[in-house]
Amino acid sequence: MRFNNILEAIGNTPLIKLNKITRGIKGTVYAKMESMNPGLSAKDRIAIHMIEKAEQEGRLKPGGTIIEATSGNTGFSIAMISAIRGYRCVLTVTSKVSKEKINLLKAMGARVVICPKSAKPEDPASYYERAKKFAKDIPNSLYLNQNFNIDNCEAHYMSTGPEIWKQTEGKITHLICSTGTGGTLSGTAQYLKEKNPNIQIIAIDAYGSVLKKYYETGIYDENEIYSYRIEGTGKNIIPDNVNFNVIDQYVKVTDKQSAFKARRLAKQEGMLVGYSSGAVLQGLFEVRNQMKKDDVIVLIFADHGSRYLGKIFNDEWMEEQGFLYGQKNYKYMLRFRKFLRSI
Ligand SMILES: Cc1ncc(COP(=O)(O)O)c(C=O)c1O
Repeated sequence: MRFNNILEAIGNTPLIKLNKITRGIKGTVYAKMESMNPGLSAKDRIAIHMIEKAEQEGRLKPGGTIIEATSGNTGFSIAMISAIRGYRCVLTVTSKVSKEKINLLKAMGARVVICPKSAKPEDPASYYERAKKFAKDIPNSLYLNQNFNIDNCEAHYMSTGPEIWKQTEGKITHLICSTGTGGTLSGTAQYLKEKNPNIQIIAIDAYGSVLKKYYETGIYDENEIYSYRIEGTGKNIIPDNVNFNVIDQYVKVTDKQSAFKARRLAKQEGMLVGYSSGAVLQGLFEVRNQMKKDDVIVLIFADHGSRYLGKIFNDEWMEEQGFLYGQKNYKYMLRFRKFLRSI
């Protein structure tokens, strides 16, 4: 493979079989490794597509400024594209995003504005409202708005869906995918359902997000909202990019179990993938009894684990969250630490 620039390396990510961690689960389970995009996440696909559409339609002009409200991954992809195409970029993020992610954005030349994670979406201090305001104030700028820009979903309809269909030779029976903006799931699922309407689409949501309840009842319930730790999964708004019609089942997963699944993926499968990938794997475990021996299950692993070294892959962070308490090795770990302090 030889490319003229880094952007040409976006997409065509491998599909890799999980062998140990899924032992006992019927069917064959594959991971779609979006962490192997050049920007280390699935967001490369949507960033390049949204930017190219805006260029074609004259909404983005040479030398312009790209603005986005992003939990980090989309921002990284936008910054990467901006570096190649000569745009400036301003990214608003919430204070929930890891330090590593913020440093990554800055390393790529982006201007990063941190907004309080507790701000409600309509609050002028929220990362959505700050992005809108920047787009108003900065001349020749464009707010990409990944939650409501349907080009997000279209990117996955045009690339991720066809890739999975081809890589499984049309044998896929289940797709399990996180929902944040909804673009990955909706675009991929739309393509796959057009090929075979029997494919089961299982969407993953976090406790603290409104999406699952909205799917099941049509009610946007503010009482569902509270702060949680998984990044990229779940929302406190209903994005246009979640196409609820293609979803067969919504599953909620906990911060703790998702974190442990991501850690096990590294140790058992050699895959250093992100927190939401752990959430997707946890989702599979929640529905494992539905699977049959001939099923072909595809999990979408959205990003790379290097972005969470200070969080789920850091024992102190895990301990601060109370995740380690009661674990098999916890007492041993405490004793070992005490021993180290004593010498
Ligand atoms: C790490 C991670 N996982 C999953 C998602 C969800 O993908 P989508 O926005 O396409 O629903 C995101 C989106 O922000 C993400 O950053």
